[in-house]
Amino acid sequence: MRMNDLFPLTEREEAINALHYATAIYTAAPVVDDLLDAVDWPRGNRRLVDPSCGDGIFLGRALARLLRERPKVREDELLDVLQGWELHPSAAQQSRARVAELLEDHGWEPGKARAASERMVRQADFLTAGPTGPYCHVLAGNPPYLRFTNLHQLLRAEYQAALPAYACSDLLHSFLDRCASVLMPDGEVALVTADRWLFNVGAAKLRESLGNRLGIDRLQRLDPTSAFYRPKDRRAGSPPRIHPVSVVLRPSSVAAIPLSAAPVFPDKQEQPNQKPGITLGEIAKVTLAPWLGTNGIFVVDEATAASLPAEHLVPAIDTDDIRDGRLQTPTRYAIRTTPDCPPPPAIMAHLEANMHRMAKRGLRKIPWLPPESWHKRNLNEPILLVPRIARTLRPVRVAPGLLPINHNLSIVAANRATLDEIEAMLSSKEANEWMQAHAARLESGFFSLTTTLLRQLPVQF
Ligand SMILES: C[S@@+](CC[C@H](N)C(=O)[O-])C[C@H]1O[C@@H](n2cnc3c(N)ncnc32)[C@H](O)[C@@H]1O
Repeated sequence: MRMNDLFPLTEREEAINALHYATAIYTAAPVVDDLLDAVDWPRGNRRLVDPSCGDGIFLGRALARLLRERPKVREDELLDVLQGWELHPSAAQQSRARVAELLEDHGWEPGKARAASERMVRQADFLTAGPTGPYCHVLAGNPPYLRFTNLHQLLRAEYQAALPAYACSDLLHSFLDRCASVLMPDGEVALVTADRWLFNVGAAKLRESLGNRLGIDRLQRLDPTSAFYRPKDRRAGSPPRIHPVSVVLRPSSVAAIPLSAAPVFPDKQEQPNQKPGITLGEIAKVTLAPWLGTNGIFVVDEATAASLPAEHLVPAIDTDDIRDGRLQTPTRYAIRTTPDCPPPPAIMAHLEANMHRMAKRGLRKIPWLPPESWHKRNLNEPILLVPRIARTLRPVRVAPGLLPINHNLSIVAANRATLDEIEAMLSSKEANEWMQAHAARLESGFFSLTTTLLRQLPVQF
């Protein structure tokens, strides 16, 4: 328990403060208006709910529309069609103030406006105290994104008890799951979300479950520099560290893009019946460079290498040996050992003297083996390297006899196509366009080029 100025905060209040602090990134009005247009709200008695309403931008914009269309709307009608949930007390208060002000401006008596706003915005946890059955015609908002590992354990335990396991790795997944289950049969979900749930392998079960009822009807990238305002926890003006999209989910019978375990890529929406062509994984051998553990044990510098038998050393290369797309002269060596034959005494002595520094996950039963074996790798052919984090797909040619190390590099070796052909394919404009549409985006224009992604790269062969 920690004291604020006057009152001690309970553990729950601290947990909620931390959650709010980590997730309060509010949506700019034009993005909100665009989503409300997309779901054509208000229409009839369709109920719109913002499950995590923050300072009430969605509620406010929705209310302004409603008052324009139905200036004489009664309080009970209004409270039936527009509702918000917000866990954090001050944010809930800000939402209410926004709503009350709009109602007053519209001519409502201040006490009545305040009372209506109190009832419209529930200060409660949507995940554990939200509606339990079909209730909403439209769910609109910008749900929180936060990995479960970063949630206070008190809330994490409550959510894990209330939600299916596939919805418990990120709060966004939890919200998507809850939104789908409280939706009326013809309901729609109109949200701003981070893009990763659409294509990450870890969200496949979530997509599959959502896809039982819903499909994607609209999917657009948003500009993170203008889609949000007042991002807490960040310097003014710095955009949030996510890649946002605006997405509308509708019943699968009417939605344009089916939702299933398969990934959906916001920049390139595949036609459902598009035939998959040949991929890089079918014509080349794409592997991850082996991790040899903490530096200085199986990977040594030139000075240490000079004291070890040269026939057991292989020049090793990592990402920092690549500069401007070209490989520099290697300055490290990997110690080559095999499982069935202990290395010579000088190497054994070096390993024994340094093994205490090895990361725990790098320790093996046979003490002279590195965490990931590479003694069977063929080093007699040239290969291509693709860095795991890069702005463009630009393979780097590597001569025989060098060992790429560490998981930051993928190794592409010739198989059904020649290395020249593969190099040309990887460097092509088409490959780069595909990569930019399919790779997860990172900060500052970088992409995450995983080995799995490379294997899926379509090629002309
Ligand atoms: C990303 S902000 C979005 C606010 C608003 N919908 C908007 O678009 O500007 C997310 C809000 O969700 C709230 N929140 C987080 N977890 C919640 C929960 N379990 N139930 C209700 N609100 C929650 C946070 O306090 C935060 O204000």
